Formats: sequence, C-alpha cells, structure tokens
Amino acid sequence: MPIRWDAEAREAHLHNDRVSYIFRVLDTGWLGHLHFGPRLDPSRTYGHLGPQGAGAFHNRPADPALLEYAVAERGDFRMPACVVEQADGSTVLDLVYAGHRIIRGKPALPGLPATYAETDDEAETVEVDIADGPSGLTVTLAYSIFRDVPCVARNVRFRNDGATTLRVRSAMSSSLDLPDDDWEMVQLSGAWARERHVVTRPLAPGRVSVSSARGASGAEHNPFVVLKRPATTEAAGEAYGVSLVYSGDFLAEAEGDSFGTARVRIGVDPENFTWTLEPGAELVLPEAILAYAADGLGELSDAYHRLYRDRLVRGRWRDALRPVLVNNWEGTYFDFDEDRLVAMASVARDVGIELFVLDDGWFGERDLDDSSLGDWTVDRRKLPNGLDGLARRIEGLGMSLGLWIEPEMVSPRSRLFAAHPEWAIGVPGRPRTEIRNQLVLDMSRPEVVDHLFAVLSDVLGSAPITYVKWDMNRNMTEAYSGALPPDRQGEFRHRYILGVYDLYARLNAAFPQILFESCASGGGRFDPGMLAYAPQTWTSDDTDAVERLAIQWGTSLVYPLSAIGAHVSAVPNHQVGRVTSLTMRAAVAFFGVFGYELDTTVFTDDERREVADQVAFYVAHRDVLQRGRFVRLKSPFEGDRNETAWMAVSDDRRHAVVGAYRVLDRPYAGPVRLPLRGLDPDAVYRVTAWPAGTAPHGELEGGLRGGDDLMATGVVVRPGPFDPRPHGDFQALVLALDVVEEVAAG
Ligand code: GLA
Repeated sequence: MPIRWDAEAREAHLHNDRVSYIFRVLDTGWLGHLHFGPRLDPSRTYGHLGPQGAGAFHNRPADPALLEYAVAERGDFRMPACVVEQADGSTVLDLVYAGHRIIRGKPALPGLPATYAETDDEAETVEVDIADGPSGLTVTLAYSIFRDVPCVARNVRFRNDGATTLRVRSAMSSSLDLPDDDWEMVQLSGAWARERHVVTRPLAPGRVSVSSARGASGAEHNPFVVLKRPATTEAAGEAYGVSLVYSGDFLAEAEGDSFGTARVRIGVDPENFTWTLEPGAELVLPEAILAYAADGLGELSDAYHRLYRDRLVRGRWRDALRPVLVNNWEGTYFDFDEDRLVAMASVARDVGIELFVLDDGWFGERDLDDSSLGDWTVDRRKLPNGLDGLARRIEGLGMSLGLWIEPEMVSPRSRLFAAHPEWAIGVPGRPRTEIRNQLVLDMSRPEVVDHLFAVLSDVLGSAPITYVKWDMNRNMTEAYSGALPPDRQGEFRHRYILGVYDLYARLNAAFPQILFESCASGGGRFDPGMLAYAPQTWTSDDTDAVERLAIQWGTSLVYPLSAIGAHVSAVPNHQVGRVTSLTMRAAVAFFGVFGYELDTTVFTDDERREVADQVAFYVAHRDVLQRGRFVRLKSPFEGDRNETAWMAVSDDRRHAVVGAYRVLDRPYAGPVRLPLRGLDPDAVYRVTAWPAGTAPHGELEGGLRGGDDLMATGVVVRPGPFDPRPHGDFQALVLALDVVEEVAAG
C-alpha cells in the first residue's frame, strides 16, 4: 500500500517508487514533518528526523521543528499555515491530532478543480483531523500520493464543530518545511504580453513571495514556485515544485529562518480574504500539488506535465489530438462579415488548417471594445445568417467553427447592464473603475451564473460549435458584492472564482464535444484551476517569435505542451513591431497547440506554399509536439540570452522534434553544437531538417545518427563562418528525429 500508518510511532508514510512523504504525531499532538524527498524504506520509521523528547515545545519555542500545519501564537514564530479568529477575538489555536483515515483513490473536491485518480489503484489518500478544543475548529489535512508521478496532492478543509462563529483569516492549502535553507526560489513572473518569465531569487533570512490581488491568478505572477538548489540545472540536482490548482488571488511564499530551515506555503491570498464559519459549516480550500525531483528541473516539469495533462484535464479532449486552428482576431479585429470570414477560412482550408475560430465582435453591436459584453446574441449586421449560417459554410469547406466568448464581463453600454446594473461588482455609492471599457459581473451570485449558463447554452446550441475561447480581459477592482452582507465581503473573491468554476463545469457537462481554451488577455489566467475545465490556454497575446521563446520556456516549467496555445501571426508583429521570418514564427509555435492568427487572404503564393508545408509538418509530428516529453536544452534566460533550444520526445523515444533558435546573428563566429537529451542511446535516428534542405553545414541532411552520438556530441545549431547558406537574425533550426527500424534491429 502506498500509505502506511505506523500505529505505534503514530507516523504516516506516503510513498511510490520515487518519493516518500513522512509525518508523525508529536508528543504535543501537533503534526511534525519528517521528510519529503527521495523514497525511503517504508517498513521503517523516521521519528529521528523530527524533534526529540517528550514535551519538546513546552519549555522552548518550536522554531527549529519541522511542522505540517503550523499555527501562530504557540511558539512557532515562522509564517503560519492558518489564522482563525474566534468569538472572543483571539487567534490562539492548538491544532492537535484527532484521528485519521486512509482512503483508496482520491476524493473529489466539491466545487473546486482538482487532480484525480481514474482508478482507485492510481492514488491513495490519508486524511488527518487536527482539532482545537476551545474553539471547536477541526482542520482536515488530506494528502494523496500518486502511483505514477513524484507528486503529493494536499488539500485542507476547515469545519466548525463548536458552538460559536469562527472567522478564518488565512488558510493555506499547503505548508512545507525543509530542514535547510540552501534554496533558490524560482517564480514565473511578467506582465501582459510577457507572461511567465523565469525569475530566480535566493532564499535568505526573511520571506520571499509572489501573490495576486487581481481576482485572477494573473500575468504578473503564476501560482507556482520552485525551490531548487543553487547548482540545480535542467538535468541535475534537487528541486521542489509547489503549485496551486486555483485561478483567483493566491500567495506563494518561502521563508528562511534563523535556524537555517525553510518553510514554503501556498494558498488563497490572505490579504483580501476572510471566511465566516458558522457552527456546523465547512470550508474547502484549493488543492496544492507538491513535486520532488532529484534530477533537475526537467524531471520536475515531467512530473507536472504528466499529472496535469492526464489527471487534471478531463473530458474527451484530454487524450485527443488538438486541431490546427486559425483565429481571425489579428486578421480583422472587429471589422468582418460572413463573406470575409469564409474567404479567410477557405484559404485556411486549402493550406490544411482544421478549425476556424471567430474571435471577439460577433455579438450585440460590438464594433469596438466599448459595448455589448453581456449581450450574447448574434450581430445580424455582420452575420445575417447567424452563427448557424456561418458554421454551415465553414463546415462546407470541411472545417469546424470555434467561437470567442467573455462570459464574466459586462459593458456599461449593453442591454444586460441596463437591465441588471446590480450584477456588476462594485461598492454602492462609489464609482466603479472601468478597464477596457468593461465591468466585472458578480459571479458569486447564483442568478448570474444561471443566467450566463442559459444564454451561453443558447449560443452554443444554436450552431455546430466545436471549440470555445473563453476570455477574461480585465482584473477586479472594487471587489464587492451587493448580494453579500458586510461581514462576508471577505469571501467575495473566492466565491467569484467558485462561480466561474460552476459555470465552466455546467457548460463542460452540457457541451462535452466542445474544446475549451481559456484566455485572459492572453496568459493572464494560465493556471491549473483553468486546466481542469479548459484543456488548453491562450499563452500570450504576444505572438512575436522572439518574445515567445521566453514565454513558452517559462510556461513549460509547469504546464504541458498540450496546454500551450501557440500561433503564427503577421509581421510586423502587432505587439512589438518585430519582423521575423515565417519559418522562425512557425518553428517556435510548433511547440504547443499550433495555429495561426492572421488574415489568410493576404498570403502571397509563396506564403501559401510555406504555410501549407508548416501545417503538414505539424500534423505529421502533432503527437509528439502535443503529447511528447518536453526537454528544455538551452535557456533564453541564461548567458547572452541569444540562443534557445528545446525538443519534444515521444514516450517510447522513437520520435523527436528539436527546435533551436538564434535571435541575432554574430559575425565570423564558430559553429555551435548542441547536445540533445532524452533519446534512446541504443537507437539509430534519421535526422531530417525542416524546412527541407536547411540542415546546417556539417550536419547530414537525412543522415543517420546514433542516439548516443546525438546526446554526447549534439547537432550543429549555429553554422560556422563558411557555411554557404545566408546568415541573418532570427534563425530557427527544426530537426525531426525518427528511429530507423532496420538499423536498430541490426
Ligand atoms: C483578448 C485576447 C485576444 C482577443 C481579444 C478580443 O485580448 O487575449 O486574443 O481575443 O481579447 O477582444
């Protein structure tokens, strides 16, 4: 059994073949943390790793002890896992062991996204109750260990078993203590159009944190941090991942203390959160996923990719190959009609694209971003035959139709706002801040969610729509609900996200054929919570090939290729004005869920041929590019940041695609070789350059190379000074590697 509870030692040991997570009940009744890391022998006990002796905390502070869920005010002066205010105004708690259960599989979290076990032998869960007698608070800590990934899922529930009201002021989903502080915290930070850049900070005495107060996880920081050893690289060294399956305000924080231990906690951001727990009430917090890798960041990413792709994403699109799409947004913005869309789709069909996505502007009277959000009825001026008429023409071309929606918003200039001004969030008597000319609907109100479900069901039922891009284009201000009493306003932001999840879940259930892609001005809500409802995410509004190297690299630290929407757009690029070649743009967008975001009708004949070749290449390698193991080779955040390289490898290591990119050319520089990773050292691969004929001087075009050779000596990614092919900025090299049967057999 992957969870062993030693009754005598009062010790829990969760293990699979790669990791162990061990804690025990201390003499004080508190839960002491003993180990999370490499697998240890589960038949032994590990009390020697924790604090020693009876009453260890009675006469001295608890600081150096490693704890599972520390409280404030009881001698542990590090950051607490929770703060709960009681009827007498105090926040003193003593959460002591009150019982436990071991459960096969992994229970679902009501109303919240979570990873799951498809069969009961894929995971096992231990739930431990820790309770505070005077207040009547019971906290249930749930830990699930997965059979196949080095990950532990943690979840926390608060229940008021007492007779008086409690106010939860802070309730972390996970708090993890580590016995030393020799770590760096890696975070994914940025802004609109430059999301999820890798930022690394050393742990020092004191706290380092990232958080969001935007009502969304945000483009600025992601609900994910890594603690890695300073020497850890992609391929070697220890790393812990801490990820929150949540789309609202979060806090991820690490603390080094004066005893040289480290604590890392993650959960709903306490800054704007309080939750009133009446007697008998329960509060379930989001799930945190902890991962441990002994062999580098690549191994850590593998764990998250596999878990999130296969056991967080759900529905029929989980395992299905995703269509190559074209989206009309940058091609037309709001200026389109049915004929123009069909003309674009018709060229798209000719070059092999499978799905046509109609973006913003098809509803109400929306010719700019200043009206109509909330009025989800088709604009007959642009689409006289409705969505159905458009869909039939698109289907007639042999493609399917996708549609953009932004359910959580309302334009002040809309029929919905005129009818229900109270449905927009804001404080009565104070002005509401408009961003992008829009307000946020109060998703904490069940009647708003019901209304949206009804009108969106009408839209999605009115035509054969196979894909939906669910956008969310502004962050929250004046976060306040007229439907909640004053003393419950601290619940609003969490209730909002629960409303979003509810609407998503209902639409998923009603329209199981639809592939959802989440979006928030690009990647402003690219988080695991969304992935539970939308298998893919629009990674960034920035489609410039150079900017995308950094964005996709950072995103891949935790999110799988199958989640990363990546499109080729026109040049000069609409976000940065840069001109890169069509080849470079595709070579970057190949690594993810591929598509186009431009006006196909303006392609020259050469561009049509090039794009057809790109689509054909992607479709031929789609399985490995969407579902392969992603191996990061050369970081755009290191060195002179001029070169990036990565590859995707099939699970059986028989197929791989390598992408290597150079931003600026360097005159008279020598050739650069790049060793590959993740191949079968005993196999022989045929190496084919894409586009055909672009193998650098010195590489064999279509030649055979051993996996051992490719990994030891590598491939030439930068040609030498005498390479006959033209040099230049913004160069990409794409190589397909396929195991050659006969030679492998011989
Ligand atoms: C956001 C999205 C874009 C596009 C526009 C439409 O910015 O990120 O892709 O859908 O909204 O208004």
